[in-house]
Amino acid sequence: MAQNTALSLPVSHHDLLLSHFRAAHDVLLAEQDLSPRNPKINSCLSAFVAAVLDCHCHDTCDLLAMPEVVSKRDAILPKLAQAEYEMEKFFALDFAAQDVLTDADLDHFIYRDNYVELVAEEIDAARTANVLPDDRPIVFVGAGPLPFSAIDMHKQTGLKMICIDSDADAVALSRKMIAALGMQDSIDVVQSSGEDFDYSGAGLVMVAALVSAKDNVLARVRDTAPGVGLAVRSAEGVRTLLYEQADEHALDRAGYDYAGKSRITDTIINTTLFFQPRPV
Ligand SMILES: C[S@@+](CC[C@H](N)C(=O)[O-])C[C@H]1O[C@@H](n2cnc3c(N)ncnc32)[C@H](O)[C@@H]1O
Repeated sequence: MAQNTALSLPVSHHDLLLSHFRAAHDVLLAEQDLSPRNPKINSCLSAFVAAVLDCHCHDTCDLLAMPEVVSKRDAILPKLAQAEYEMEKFFALDFAAQDVLTDADLDHFIYRDNYVELVAEEIDAARTANVLPDDRPIVFVGAGPLPFSAIDMHKQTGLKMICIDSDADAVALSRKMIAALGMQDSIDVVQSSGEDFDYSGAGLVMVAALVSAKDNVLARVRDTAPGVGLAVRSAEGVRTLLYEQADEHALDRAGYDYAGKSRITDTIINTTLFFQPRPV
């Protein structure tokens, strides 16, 4: 319980979260520049994300049912996706400007530990769900300009990675960064929409939280790689103020059975759901 110093009244985590949510909503809708170059974006999003991670009521958070929260959440989710893309691009431009990058350079990214931790949790959950391949590559759809998920997945499993992104800037920046790390033989980057890619040969397909047209991506995976497992980044409870929750019914309709999920921790926002293809 924090203190509201102006009124000397106790302020609950819910009150704090609601006020940071409202502030983030107002700033995200008013500002044109959603990148970290904009100090208003930096401060309101850091405070909002910290308040979300500080709220431990997960599935039962009363805020999620408030009509104001429902309508403002719909308005900010696309803006948050844009802000995340801009943030990744901002750091990717710095990395891509260097001809040679070392492991130590990667630690300059402020959220580096979160990626290492999320990927470690995903590998544990994928093993338990029996979908981690022995040697075939992992295809990561929506890898973005800053391919830390693929870099860390390769570092922690030794598996070859194929990053897919429909955005030309994201592809150019991540290719440059991967080459500067000397990882071009281990991580391919392909410009394609997830709906069009041919997944045959994949050992596992991972779908990033911010991928659009997920139903079409799932249908394409099922068509081109029918026996392959799926991992879909999602969010639960109060963390759905930041990301859409994956639609498990859509996965069921696409022919996938739920096989487990990554552990929820105090520092990781996303939960990754794992699915086995249902035998036909
Ligand atoms: C913010 S970025 C990086 C991913 C993020 N770290 C995550 O886990 O969601 C999201 C990326 O997904 C890409 N993307 C979105 N929908 C896609 C689709 N259907 N096919 C391929 N790329 C897609 C966008 O171009 C963007 O670069």
